[in-house]
Amino acid sequence: MKILVTGGLGFIGSHTVVELQNEGFDVVIIDDCSNSTENVLDGIVAITGKRPLFEKLDLKEKSKVEDFFKRHSDVVGVIHFAASKAVGESVEKPLLYYENNIGTLVYLLKELSQKNNASFIFSSSCTVYGQADQMPITEDAPVKPAESPYGNTKQMGEEIIADTCKVTPGLNAIALRYFNPMGAHPSTEIGELPIGVPQNLVPFITQTGAGLREQLSVFGDDYPTEDGTCVRDYIYVVDLAKAHVIALKRLLENKNSDNYEVFNVGTGKGSSVLEVIQSFEKVSGKKLNYKIVDRRPGDITTAYADTTKANEVLGWKSAYSLDEAMKSAWDWEQKIRS
Ligand SMILES: NC(=O)c1ccc[n+]([C@@H]2O[C@H](COP(=O)([O-])OP(=O)(O)OC[C@H]3O[C@@H](n4cnc5c(N)ncnc54)[C@H](O)[C@@H]3O)[C@@H](O)[C@H]2O)c1
Repeated sequence: MKILVTGGLGFIGSHTVVELQNEGFDVVIIDDCSNSTENVLDGIVAITGKRPLFEKLDLKEKSKVEDFFKRHSDVVGVIHFAASKAVGESVEKPLLYYENNIGTLVYLLKELSQKNNASFIFSSSCTVYGQADQMPITEDAPVKPAESPYGNTKQMGEEIIADTCKVTPGLNAIALRYFNPMGAHPSTEIGELPIGVPQNLVPFITQTGAGLREQLSVFGDDYPTEDGTCVRDYIYVVDLAKAHVIALKRLLENKNSDNYEVFNVGTGKGSSVLEVIQSFEKVSGKKLNYKIVDRRPGDITTAYADTTKANEVLGWKSAYSLDEAMKSAWDWEQKIRS
């Protein structure tokens, strides 16, 4: 079965391509390399022994997307990772985010709507919950007004998919709401490759540990949490990648109970910034240079997932601990710096 993975050279996409190939799927990747490089393909080959098809293509170019689906009419499912993802940049350049995250989604759904049968998996985010009123966060928690154009593209994306599935027989979709993805493949052949200053905590920590950054700023230690720092749910990227394969199979095997479903993908455990730093210090044996600074506007206090639905309905559960995921991130950082 041929599966299109958009953004398949990116962080989460590349790990998902590996899991798909390990499960016997034929993969075709679309990526414009705006936030990745073609070398990632070599990493995928090193792990799986198989080179996925790859088309360097910008999904914003509608005619090229149409042409792609003409040439690959045997695609039965799409996992859509391609998007711009820097929250701060989205505030500065909202139209870039609406065009890249919403425009491309519409083009893909248009193509899939013309098929008799198609499965679609969407990269959503726990940002849709904002600061939820109750922990852990269930899928029924209300979606809060988005704090940024990026967050808005995830909320709108979910609505666009739900509306389209409602009126398109044969189109089935699952939105996976990721919590905080981290880590790298245990082989160290693929991992997270942030361009410029990392937006996420873990690559900032490993780059600081590797000497690339002088110091990590911890934004606030006066939050109402156990140690005063913000709490998040860190999910190992390989666990997350496996959730995509399971969700896709659910659709391909017609096991879904609705033609649009939503699942949280997290560990169900919250970790504070200081606990994540301690995990790094434990697995690396290094002391991390960090300092506490003022709170950063827009940061929520606590977010961790209720994973009951994913556990019971999807039959998926995270397997790796924070320390194991951190070790993979540190091994990867050391490999790319060597
Ligand atoms: N990493 C996170 O913390 C996180 C959390 C929640 C949700 N998400 C979502 O998961 C998805 C994947 O995230 P990631 O961390 O792997 O990001 P990433 O930037 O590593 O991967 C995205 C890939 O899409 C490609 N791309 C972007 N625009 C494109 C376009 N117009 N045409 C073709 N390719 C394009 C990029 O080159 C990149 O390889 C995104 O939709 C992101 O919003 C990520």
